[in-house]
Amino acid sequence: MNETNPWNTIPLADYELHMQHKDVGQAKLLNDLTGKYLQNNKPENILFLGISGGNGLEHIDPDLVKRVCAVDISSAYLEETRKRFGNKIKQLDLVNADIGSSTVSFIQADFVWAALIFDYVDSKRCFEFINDNTDPFAKLIITIQSNNGVQSVSKTGVESIKSVGSIFKTIGQEDLKTEAVTFGFDCVGSEENFLPNGKSLCTYEFSKRG
Ligand SMILES: C[S@@+](CC[C@H](N)C(=O)[O-])C[C@H]1O[C@@H](n2cnc3c(N)ncnc32)[C@H](O)[C@@H]1O
Repeated sequence: MNETNPWNTIPLADYELHMQHKDVGQAKLLNDLTGKYLQNNKPENILFLGISGGNGLEHIDPDLVKRVCAVDISSAYLEETRKRFGNKIKQLDLVNADIGSSTVSFIQADFVWAALIFDYVDSKRCFEFINDNTDPFAKLIITIQSNNGVQSVSKTGVESIKSVGSIFKTIGQEDLKTEAVTFGFDCVGSEENFLPNGKSLCTYEFSKRG
């Protein structure tokens, strides 16, 4: 696995402290959004891109899903996710892969949760990975961060998180939608949620054209 990727240098505890910090507030918002979109779509075969420590997996109903494939570049994050959710979700398949280079098809998902992954991985590669791992009518939910003029990594006292600032990139909202179309995904909805530090998370719902 890509050991030079800065995500492999950040302890999960640091990442989660940062995301839960009162000024950041992203952990709870992402968790709530995951619950909402799962509830609205009721998917059976789910792909999570960048699962980190499993945030949001508590919304999976093991009686309703066939497979849940959760990908991350960090084997340490996946190990913790396994400890937290492996017993509850028997259908959980944890995959250690680099979305930036993998061409393997792990699942034919009908629903993809891609929260704060396009911000760190080349978007063309993300879409290619998604197309390799979805069925023809899949729903794709992408959340990206909008900085609204605020610095990209908030000061939370967590030093290690600063290393991913080097690969963070701001995504143009219209660019994302235009690129999605070229990969067969049409935008069918969106929402913006503001965070305590003035940044926001923009979430887009896409449908694959079939
Ligand atoms: C900002 S977090 C995503 C949000 C997270 N799901 C949450 O709710 O807290 C980014 C995640 O993507 C993973 N990641 C970053 N680059 C990756 C890559 N190239 N391939 C696979 N996973 C990657 C990181 O290890 C991290 O767990």
